[in-house]
Amino acid sequence: MFVNKPPMGFNTWNTFAENISDEMIRETADAMVEKGLLAAGYNYLVIDDCWSKRQRDPETDKIVPDEKKFPNGMKAVSDYVHSKGLKFGMYSCAGVRTCADYPGSFAHEYLDAATFAEYGCDFLKYDYCYKPKDADGALLYRKISMALRSCGRDILLSACNWGCDDVHKWIRSTGAGMYRSTGDISDSFVSFRDIFVSQLDNFVYSAPGCFNDIDMLTVGMRNRGNVAASGCTDEEYRTEFALWCMFSAPLMLGCDVRNIDDVTLKLVTNPRLIAVNQDEEGRPPFVAVYGHDNLANVYVKVLSNNRLAILFANLTDGDREMWLPLDSIGIPVNVGKGLRLTDVYTGEDAGAHKEYLMYHVPAHDTRMFTAEIADV
Ligand code: GAL
Repeated sequence: MFVNKPPMGFNTWNTFAENISDEMIRETADAMVEKGLLAAGYNYLVIDDCWSKRQRDPETDKIVPDEKKFPNGMKAVSDYVHSKGLKFGMYSCAGVRTCADYPGSFAHEYLDAATFAEYGCDFLKYDYCYKPKDADGALLYRKISMALRSCGRDILLSACNWGCDDVHKWIRSTGAGMYRSTGDISDSFVSFRDIFVSQLDNFVYSAPGCFNDIDMLTVGMRNRGNVAASGCTDEEYRTEFALWCMFSAPLMLGCDVRNIDDVTLKLVTNPRLIAVNQDEEGRPPFVAVYGHDNLANVYVKVLSNNRLAILFANLTDGDREMWLPLDSIGIPVNVGKGLRLTDVYTGEDAGAHKEYLMYHVPAHDTRMFTAEIADV
């Protein structure tokens, strides 16, 4: 499947881990529609690890769903998800076992792809635990990609090898639509900050066709669930979401969307933020100003229709004055041009500016704008 925009949706892992069930998935599907998440673009509902029995069926060799969690089987769940207008995602692993010790797809790739097609899957997250030492990782991703391409259903391959083996250099060639580039996120400022900064050199390895996935969002988790750590403030969650949007990262919600709070819902459905993430040109941002070991950078992303997105990201522990000379983005002082800004968070007109932009940005917070180049 060719994905021209970063996939958006919900994944069970961050909050639920093994606490997944038919009922919980149906309630989540309902919530995604009722709360306007589907309308905002979140259309994949993905079940992560822990959905199957501990062993394959001894006769058919197939992976089988855990009937305590999914008493009606996976096709019934998938049918329900589809009936809501959502797409259905599942999970397996390139190794012999999944990370939570359920059967992996190693040496069963074609059988499992056929099983996922029977379930009506549209998306497969494919992990990297328990890979036999001498197995070639790139070949394993090629194998599942070819298996999916011949299973009779269009299934997006979401690779998840945590950035091992220089994955950014070869994953696009396998046919994957997105690829995890880092270790697992947890619900804290330091976790998402370090994940984001680790990919500064890999911004360019993300484009329509195959997007760099810096993990499921923790936005709105409020320190509850499987990857709970210290939790984040509202400003920190907004920073996380802004960074993911600026980077064109897949936007997979990890909070319990059945109980999503109003602040989080407003943030993750902000149409201006989503438009930056989903911009059709799919360009990576560039760093216009480097500051404080990459913790106080200003990022600029070229958008379609001659627009720009600008993010002042203060990831340091103190408040800062952040400065962007327009010269550094390619608009010299003497050409009579400047920027007309819209505040992405509020939608308000933020004025026309020449020569430079300067903002006070509190610790762990951001200012974000879209801009048009204008005569000033
Ligand atoms: C990890 C993966 C997580 C989650 C987990 C399931 O390897 O990075 O996102 O899928 O396995 O066990």
